[in-house]
Amino acid sequence: MTDTDWFQVVVTQVRLEADQVISLVLSPPAGGALPSWEAGAHIDVRLPSGLIRQYSLCGDPDQPHYTIAVLREYAGRGGSAEIHDTALVGRTLTLRGPRNHFMLQPAARYVFVAGGIGVTPILSMARHATRHGVPWSLHYGGRHADTMAFAGKLRRLSHQAGAALSLRGDDTAGALPLTEIVREAPEDSLLYACGPAGMLAALRAAVDAERADLTLLTEQFTAAESPAPVPIGEDSAPAAAFEVELARTGETVTVEPGASILDAVREVRPDVLYSCEEGFCGTCETKVIAGQPVHRDTILSEGERAVGKTMMICVGGCASRRLVLDL
Ligand code: FES
Repeated sequence: MTDTDWFQVVVTQVRLEADQVISLVLSPPAGGALPSWEAGAHIDVRLPSGLIRQYSLCGDPDQPHYTIAVLREYAGRGGSAEIHDTALVGRTLTLRGPRNHFMLQPAARYVFVAGGIGVTPILSMARHATRHGVPWSLHYGGRHADTMAFAGKLRRLSHQAGAALSLRGDDTAGALPLTEIVREAPEDSLLYACGPAGMLAALRAAVDAERADLTLLTEQFTAAESPAPVPIGEDSAPAAAFEVELARTGETVTVEPGASILDAVREVRPDVLYSCEEGFCGTCETKVIAGQPVHRDTILSEGERAVGKTMMICVGGCASRRLVLDL
């Protein structure tokens, strides 16, 4: 991805969807069209301050605009506060994407699990399943009912699809019964979940313990609560420093043990794109031209890792002495 991958949109509507959650409608400049997308896709948004943040597309792919929803995160790093506090209607924003690491695979039925603002990709998935006549059910949990965005839309959609919808506020009904959800998932279903890292970890543990036959696909919105980064030098990575060649200029940087590729690249390319620095947002995804990347992100699937065409350079390492990146 390069700067030429970015394009402009105009914010044409901002709406309050729930307590501390607003949606933004992003329209193409006059006469233009936006790149197409499928359920599960996200975009990178460059905010007026220059911060880059990722948001799932939660509208309808058939519409000529994009819709995203943003939760104000008081413990966040400024992106959500900027969106909530800036009068954005009529302003131009710059986007990159859409990209999709959370693609809806064909299945006989879907079981969706959403936690909080993690409902955004799930909403477009439920819409897609409804449109294609694939049965689905959704378990959606939030802190309390007022914080749960798109509850009305989901009720209408579930009614239209004849789908089972469970909306559950932690304050009145307690957390989602993840073990029960896993136990009761039909054999021919795929389980898709999006939400906080803790919820996803608990769901993964329930699947491992109860239903090895069930395929769980997840997308994480926040860093893991107990991040366990693999230090450079462990797994298959060499303990020694390695070299990274930036193919577009031929420059070479050295990544010292304990440093990240992103740190080394930043020394010569201060404008290199990144956001979370924890391997879950995808902003720093970079094409690998040669060498053997070591993946430590929570984005790429096993299949994508095996192919080794891209990597997240904020957390990834190298199992060879040299990596050549499309930078
Ligand atoms: S900066 Fe977020 S995955 Fe690398």
